[in-house]
Amino acid sequence: MKYFIGNWKMFGIPGSIKIIERINNFLSKDKKNNKKYKVIIAPPFTLLSSFNRKFKNKRISLCAQNCSQFDNFGAHTGSVSAYMIKAVGIKHVIIGHSENRASGENDVILRKKLFTAIQNNLNIIFCIGENKTQKRNKLTLQVLKKQIKNVIMKNCNFKNIIIAYEPVWSIGTGKIPKPDELQKTLISIKKFLKSHFRSKNSFKILYGGSVDYKSIHNFKLIKDLDGFLIGGASKSSKKFIDIIKNFYK
Ligand code: PGA
Repeated sequence: MKYFIGNWKMFGIPGSIKIIERINNFLSKDKKNNKKYKVIIAPPFTLLSSFNRKFKNKRISLCAQNCSQFDNFGAHTGSVSAYMIKAVGIKHVIIGHSENRASGENDVILRKKLFTAIQNNLNIIFCIGENKTQKRNKLTLQVLKKQIKNVIMKNCNFKNIIIAYEPVWSIGTGKIPKPDELQKTLISIKKFLKSHFRSKNSFKILYGGSVDYKSIHNFKLIKDLDGFLIGGASKSSKKFIDIIKNFYK
């Protein structure tokens, strides 16, 4: 099963539901391939609840883009807890996106976020990725392992966690890793996960960063890839559908 996960970031108003409707129509018609993949879309908090009512029994699932490190309710202005996300029927959450790490989310905070998301039975898409300098200094694997080790508890069973490998230098830049380089990184991450966690469940890893209808061709032959986290191109139903179409072409 491949995942195509759309991350809308700070985008979307009530009328943007059309984008999801169009994708959903495509999925219903794509009889040849639609059992092979799952589509999850992450609109902003303002739209999650109303969109979810509409898409409850559809093939598309919705996802929150983040959650608070604190559980339940509390004096945390502007924050939304995993408990509140779950209460409106949402089952997925993105944690650790590099844009949020850049604005102050450190490993300690992320560890708490992951914990509260697990407590609330949410499926987690946990983002990791090295920046340009770290890549240049050949620190990629070291950075990725540290991001995983510092946040995911050792006894985690990975039933509800998907790792999204998103090189920071690739997000929104049009730059993507070379396929053989990406494959090597994915193999190394999976090997590390197997040795560090000893989970009975299989480890899933997505790639994210400048995935679009053209670049998707580069990822088709990469084994060990369980899907994609798509930013910019997920804001247009056509662009998002073209990614899926080209992937299975
Ligand atoms: P991008 O973003 O596809 O626009 O590069 C990916 C992401 O930030 O998840």
